[in-house]
Amino acid sequence: MASEKLKNMMNKAIANEIQVSIQYMWQHVQWTGVEHYAVADEFKSIAIQEMKHAEMIAERLWYFDGVPTTKPSTITVGGVLEEMVDYDIKAEEDAIELYKDIQKVADAENDPTTRFLFEGILKDEEEHHDFFTSLKDGMPQKRKR
Ligand SMILES: [Fe+2]
Ligand SMILES: [Fe+2]
Repeated sequence: MASEKLKNMMNKAIANEIQVSIQYMWQHVQWTGVEHYAVADEFKSIAIQEMKHAEMIAERLWYFDGVPTTKPSTITVGGVLEEMVDYDIKAEEDAIELYKDIQKVADAENDPTTRFLFEGILKDEEEHHDFFTSLKDGMPQKRKR
């Protein structure tokens, strides 16, 4: 059985996953202009992946008799496009840090299944981080500099 510490970390992960699934969905809706057509599908696809992450973590937490939170972490949609992408890069960096920490704690508790779960999710978050940073590098505001 997982420690309270690990269960709390998993619930923090769930709160973050709910946050970003809403954040990316609303950005997908609010994003306007030519860029919208280039990236809208990817935002939608990432939002759905985040929802699936929340569900997978919740299933594992439930197995440990933990109750998954229904409350998202602070949702930061942003206004202009560059601001949105900055918030998304930050969210992915937070996820990467937290999921590495969770793997360390799971290892210390001799829990390879939780470790393996978060290994897979971490790989997705690194791909999301790569997408958002590539998007930022390709933005017109940045090209002018
Ligand atoms: Fe995620
Ligand atoms: Fe992500």
